[in-house]
Amino acid sequence: MTTRLAWSSETVLIAPSVLSANFTDLGRDVAAVERGGADLIHIDVMDGHFVPNITIGQPVVRALKRIAACPLDVHLMIEEADRYVDDFVDAGADLLSVHVEVTPHLHRTIAHIKSQGVKAGAVLNPSTPVSSLLDIASDLDFVLVMSVNPGFSGQAFIRQALDKIRRVRDVLTQAGSSALIEIDGGINASNAQEAVDAGATILVAGKAIFGADNAETATQTLRAAASGVVRP
Ligand code: DX5
Ligand code: ZN
Repeated sequence: MTTRLAWSSETVLIAPSVLSANFTDLGRDVAAVERGGADLIHIDVMDGHFVPNITIGQPVVRALKRIAACPLDVHLMIEEADRYVDDFVDAGADLLSVHVEVTPHLHRTIAHIKSQGVKAGAVLNPSTPVSSLLDIASDLDFVLVMSVNPGFSGQAFIRQALDKIRRVRDVLTQAGSSALIEIDGGINASNAQEAVDAGATILVAGKAIFGADNAETATQTLRAAASGVVRP
């Protein structure tokens, strides 16, 4: 059963990315981060066209839906997302995000995702300007700011993303939008607080959680870092 999500800009949500998990034991890894207090399970869908990697499809999302207590945050890094939105909704996505760079009819796509009762997000690559959100800001449930070029876990955090988050926040405020801001790529205990201070409230982390010895405690550590709490 999926737990209810605290959807508010007052609450930091931790979203472990299973791209860095052990694919032979995804159930165990998801259970570990849920014990550690994860709020979302982030799932990276890549097509080998928009990004130079092929990862997870609907069958794995459907399988994760059966075992995850947390809502599923499905990040589509694919061309022609419109062809697949319904499949991922049917598979169990609770949040679904599409990249502005490859979604020509973004307004229609976002409206369609929301019409399915799923939270809809627009994703910006590091080089994509914040201005691309100007005419869609008030329609979004969330904006995902990439802090790496999408394709792989374990890449270095691009620090310009912090200023970008602040500019996204300004655009959302001016549009009267209550959309949340998610950050994805290279997030760890050293930069989580900066990301939250800039205005992100959904923190995705792959390597920092599943690359650690213990994914449960790594989830707790990331949350503590995001709250400015220094753990002994
Ligand atoms: C990158 C993916 C990320 C990735 C994050 O293309 O969208 O979600 O799994 O992994 P880390 O936290 O290791 O950068
Ligand atoms: Zn992602």
